Amino acid sequence: MPLVNTIDMFKKAYEGGYAIGAFNVNNMEIVQGITEAAKEVNAPLILQVSSGARKYANHTYLMKLIEAALAETDLPIAVHLDHGDSFELCKSCIDGGFTSVMIDGSHLPFEENIALTKKVVEYAHDKGVTVEGELGRLAGIEDAVNVSEEDAAFTRPEEVEEFVGRTGVDSLAIAIGTSHGAFKFKGEAKLRFDILEEIQKKLPGFPIVLHGASSVIPEYVEQINKFGGNMPGAKGVPEEMLRKAASMAVCKINIDSDLRLAMTATIRKVFAESPAEFDPRKYLGPAREEIKKLVKHKLINVLGCAGKA
Ligand code: G3H
Ligand code: 13P
Ligand code: ZN
Repeated sequence: MPLVNTIDMFKKAYEGGYAIGAFNVNNMEIVQGITEAAKEVNAPLILQVSSGARKYANHTYLMKLIEAALAETDLPIAVHLDHGDSFELCKSCIDGGFTSVMIDGSHLPFEENIALTKKVVEYAHDKGVTVEGELGRLAGIEDAVNVSEEDAAFTRPEEVEEFVGRTGVDSLAIAIGTSHGAFKFKGEAKLRFDILEEIQKKLPGFPIVLHGASSVIPEYVEQINKFGGNMPGAKGVPEEMLRKAASMAVCKINIDSDLRLAMTATIRKVFAESPAEFDPRKYLGPAREEIKKLVKHKLINVLGCAGKA
């Protein structure tokens, strides 16, 4: 099966009350861990690449790894640019074989966000590539840009119809209280489901995207801290909130930090227990296995997309 865009997977996800997992990929072990999990449970997938990942691993290497995963799994897989910040970056990814891109103009004034997003949509749709736009601002760190809590802003439901209508985007990322990274909530986790509900009413049947959706699995944080790390107070989105979002209009749930924690916790344990280890396969292999275990859990128990490929 060739790489797919997100149209069909989102339509089925919306109708079925589940979400597609959009997992960030940076190297071979991450691609393998995610796609082996999806193969075992027969789930559709979005593999997303940030501009930082593209700089780290190189566009061609990432595409070839994903093509290899496609050949090994025969699943519906979309390759998506995460947080594209310019028309040129989106164009380069589209020309290089991505089937979906995000243009993140959320930091721009409304009219400028519309103009930039529309330009990307026109170029992308001409080539069968789907586009995710964003309205509202998440707190946290993306590509080394740190958005403070004061600068974060919930999506305004009264703007979504005009934004989607004038840009022609295929999905919309919204801000309802999640944030990027491992430190999402100081106190109790709170998501503005009332805003999501209002958006869903304004855009019936339209796929919504939730960024910053890692749960910051406490067992990984404990393991990292036990073996020499220092992540006090790391806190993420509870799984039941993600399940609720997936049963509503949220069709794409973005997860990166949990993958990082799974890898780091595993590698720290290997080094703590075998300080003389110096064969990369002996720590990257277990890290890949842990990613597979984590992604299987997400696909089955959190996103609800197992068996939907
Ligand atoms: O939202 C950001 C993703 O977690 C990607 O992070 O830009 O460090 O690759 P990155
Ligand atoms: P997390 O940092 O919660 O994993 O969010 C990832 C994300 O939104 C990627 O776009
Ligand atoms: Zn994001």
